[in-house]
Amino acid sequence: MFTCPLSEDAYLKLLERGDAPALFDLTDRSRTHLRRWMPWLDQTVSFEQTEAFVTASLRQYADGLGYQAGIWRGATLLGTAGLHPIDWPNRQSALGYWIGAENEGRGLVTMACRALLRAAFVEYGLHRMELRAATGNARSRAVAERLGFRLEGVVRDAEWLYDHYVDHAVYGLLEGEWREEV
Ligand SMILES: CC(C)(COP(=O)(O)OP(=O)(O)OC[C@H]1O[C@@H](n2cnc3c(N)ncnc32)[C@H](O)[C@@H]1OP(=O)(O)O)[C@@H](O)C(=O)NCCC(=O)NCCS
Repeated sequence: MFTCPLSEDAYLKLLERGDAPALFDLTDRSRTHLRRWMPWLDQTVSFEQTEAFVTASLRQYADGLGYQAGIWRGATLLGTAGLHPIDWPNRQSALGYWIGAENEGRGLVTMACRALLRAAFVEYGLHRMELRAATGNARSRAVAERLGFRLEGVVRDAEWLYDHYVDHAVYGLLEGEWREEV
């Protein structure tokens, strides 16, 4: 999968080296918005660090471990969505995503995740997908619930966010439970 339409004008496209400037620019403009829930903002302060992330993502794809995609409208990058490196012995992966504040609330992340779930269950033939969100991250938890994930539990102090721990709500979806139209 290199590009995948999400709506009339939005699409998902594998992140490529040439996308690194747009990705760094969007990250840099979205720092305050993202820093609330993403742990890597302080390790992403230069273009080279974003470029290294894209290179690692392409390596992940080449190694058959899933991929990271951009959410685009025309030539404008709006956010990213991707699969965590696939755990092949257990046929599992997890979803990760973010979108710039100005494009929240349009359903683009849910649509991107639907495409990724299809890739996970149909193209890669995985058995289980996971989605973890900080318990307080209501928007992210709503994405999981909209997609039909089941809440499996809460991991306490699962992630260090700059100056405090957050608990994770762990959601799971098995291949037999996945319905494409959800
Ligand atoms: C978490 C995050 C990605 C959620 O983004 P989002 O825009 O709320 O999610 P979606 O794009 O799926 O949009 C959902 C909204 O669009 C609406 N919507 C419109 N059309 C829709 C459609 N076709 N399908 C689904 N939802 C649709 C939904 O009703 C919902 O509206 P609401 O916010 O008023 O309830 C975003 O808040 C974010 O990037 N946060 C910072 C980083 C982060 O937390 N990442 C996740 C870490 S686990």
